[in-house]
Amino acid sequence: MTASETVVGAPAAVRVVGDRWLDLTDPDVHRAGVPHATFQRLRDDEPVAWTEEASGSGFWSITRYDDVVALNKDFRTFTSEQGIRLEEMDAEELAARRTMMEMDPPEHTRLRRLVQGGFTRRMVASYEQAIRLLARAVIDEAVPRGRFDLVTDVARQLPMRMLGRLLGAPEEDYTFLVDRGDAMIGNSDPEFTEHVVDLMDTDEFRLMPFRSPAGLELFEYAQRLADERRAQPRDDVVTRMLADTIDGQPLSDLEFKNFFTLLVAAGNDTTRYSLAGGLLTLLDHPEQIELLQERPELMPSAVEEMLRWTSVTMHFRRTATRDVEVHGRTIREGDKVALWWIAGDFDERRFPEPYRFDVTRTPNDHLAFGRGGPHRCIGEWLARAEIRVTMEELLPRLGDLRVAGPIERLRSNFISGIKHLPVEVASA
Ligand code: HEM
Repeated sequence: MTASETVVGAPAAVRVVGDRWLDLTDPDVHRAGVPHATFQRLRDDEPVAWTEEASGSGFWSITRYDDVVALNKDFRTFTSEQGIRLEEMDAEELAARRTMMEMDPPEHTRLRRLVQGGFTRRMVASYEQAIRLLARAVIDEAVPRGRFDLVTDVARQLPMRMLGRLLGAPEEDYTFLVDRGDAMIGNSDPEFTEHVVDLMDTDEFRLMPFRSPAGLELFEYAQRLADERRAQPRDDVVTRMLADTIDGQPLSDLEFKNFFTLLVAAGNDTTRYSLAGGLLTLLDHPEQIELLQERPELMPSAVEEMLRWTSVTMHFRRTATRDVEVHGRTIREGDKVALWWIAGDFDERRFPEPYRFDVTRTPNDHLAFGRGGPHRCIGEWLARAEIRVTMEELLPRLGDLRVAGPIERLRSNFISGIKHLPVEVASA
């Protein structure tokens, strides 16, 4: 999104223009940009709003910051066990595709413990030099070309290489993992998959992650990696996942494959799109680039603002386990509830002048990684480090970059992402 597209007026009187009645379920709506005007209307007039779906089902949208946090915290009333995307799954699909994301505590807590040690702030700090070398190499390769795609050539290159190293996947497999990860998460975008989930029959893949044939390939890959690590353990996250036990039971093959696929899905494109969206916004605000160049110590707060602004994982779903009243509306047992992190992140009740991109914003308790609940993003420190280090490496050249072609967004109602951002180097 560019500020000029969506926001008019002086900072004191910012208002959002655009369609206030967009269909949030339609992937094409999000391809055109973040539907801020619709989120604004929902926050102001209908903080608990019902949407009918074409399938005959429907869901509630929660859009105010405090409500999103409160409902996310209350996992007994708003369970993850029926799925965390709006897609309906029957019991067989749920069982086949279950990851810790589709679990509540205490079962969830036990599984999460298997991997969280590999992603702590301290662990990530020890990878910082590796991240920097990778970022530098990627930037040094792209910039001298004079014209390149900030997403494909820069932002897309880093996250899987780092995650792959951490997990212990061999380097020659990273391209395959990025590609299959994209096909899975981008399951509603024809650029990334031939099996567009809402436009054709994908029933044959209904037991695969994201209802995607790429899920099958990742399952097969994970099985091979598991067999190798069982035969020859190493000091990596995959070996740890296989060796550790939950109450004396090691992970089953299906549990491991789903876990591995979850990490590939969650860690591949989210960081890329936060970086891409943040970079576009900075290019649109040259005064913020100058401020960062003068005061590079602001970079950590700039990263938080990029995360708030992009809020890449737009929503997660929960399902009500009992009838419950919120803002005068009755959510019935079994109803789907979408927690819109991205709407909460622009809630003026929480963020003064939310449509102003401000690299100095503090406090900035955004919802990009979730908040208040048991599922808070496990990769948050890795994502932060990747974004910060890439920005630090790019900063001296950022002022010379100009947007040089059409920006393309992902076709998805789940992930908000800029998939192409062509730029040219002004001095080239
Ligand atoms: C900027 C990048 C990222 C964003 C915006 C993001 C966003 C999120 C969000 C919103 C959640 C759900 C939180 C909740 O329900 O309370 C989540 C969970 C998760 N994220 Fe991330 N994420 C990012 C990067 C990563 C990375 C790099 C990894 C790498 C491993 C990762 C792995 C996970 C996992 C495994 C979960 C599930 C945690 C659980 O169920 O306990 N994420 N993420």
